[in-house]
Amino acid sequence: MKLVKNGKTKDVYQLENGRYLLKFKDSVTGGPGGVVDPGGNSVVGEQAGMGRACLAMTSFIFGEAARRGLAETHMGAVNLDESTMEVVPARPFGQGLEVIVRFVATGSFVRRYGLYAEDGRRFSAPLVEITLKDDERGDPLANDETLVELGLATLEEIAKIKAQARSIAGLIQELGQKNGLDIFDLKMEFGRSAEGKLLLIDEISPGSMRAYKGGQRLQGPELAQAFTA
Ligand SMILES: Nc1ncnc2c1ncn2[C@@H]1O[C@H](COP(=O)(O)OP(=O)(O)O)[C@@H](O)[C@H]1O
Ligand SMILES: [Mg+2]
Repeated sequence: MKLVKNGKTKDVYQLENGRYLLKFKDSVTGGPGGVVDPGGNSVVGEQAGMGRACLAMTSFIFGEAARRGLAETHMGAVNLDESTMEVVPARPFGQGLEVIVRFVATGSFVRRYGLYAEDGRRFSAPLVEITLKDDERGDPLANDETLVELGLATLEEIAKIKAQARSIAGLIQELGQKNGLDIFDLKMEFGRSAEGKLLLIDEISPGSMRAYKGGQRLQGPELAQAFTA
C-alpha cells in the first residue's frame, strides 16, 4: 500500500483496487497552547480509542446521510478493529475546502465578528461558511465570488455544497438532540468523484464539532459514544 498523505488525524493509502484507505489515528487536534479546538490546525495530543471512535461516528453519520438521500459520500467498507475505511478517491476543490455550519456564535466567528456577535448567541438559521484548507494562512474564509475568482469552484457547485452542508448539519443536530446534545457548530469536507459528482468526504467526528450536554462540552470517544449509542 502506497502512502498518499500523512494527515493530522488520518493516513491515506492508495489501494490496488484504485480506492483509498483511510487509517484513523488516535491524534487529538487543537490550537495554540494545546487547547483542544475543532478549528485547530495542529495535533495537540493522543488519546487511546480516538481513531476507532472517530471512524465509528463518521460511518454512522455518513451512512445516515446517504440513507436519507442528503448527500453521496465517499464511504466504502469499514473495519472498526483496524480503524480503517475504504473510500472513493475524490478531487478536492483547490487544495481543499472546509465547510462550516454554525448554529451558535462562538470560536473564530466571535473572533472575527465580536463587534456585533456575542459568544453563545444562537443564530436565527444555520449559518454556512467556507474556508480554504491552508494551515500556513490560518484557513482563510472565502466568499462565493472569491471561490469563483480563484477558480476553486463554480457558483452551482457552491450552491450545492451549501445546501448539502445545511441538510447534513440538520441531520447531526437531530441525531444529537435525541441524545440530549446541543451542537454549536461543525465542519465537513466535500470533493468530486472521477465522474464529477459531489461527494461528502473525509470525516465527521468529535473533532469536527462543538457539542454540549447539560452545559458541559463533550469531546472525543465520549461524544462519539453519545451519537452512536
Ligand atoms: N475521499 C477522499 N479522497 C481524497 N482525499 C480525501 C478523501 N477523504 C479525505 N481526504 C483527504 O485526506 C486527508 C485526511 O487526513 P487528515 O488527517 O484529515 O488531514 P488534515 O491534516 O488535512 O486534516 C485530508 O487532506 C482530506 O481532505
Ligand atoms: Mg482533517
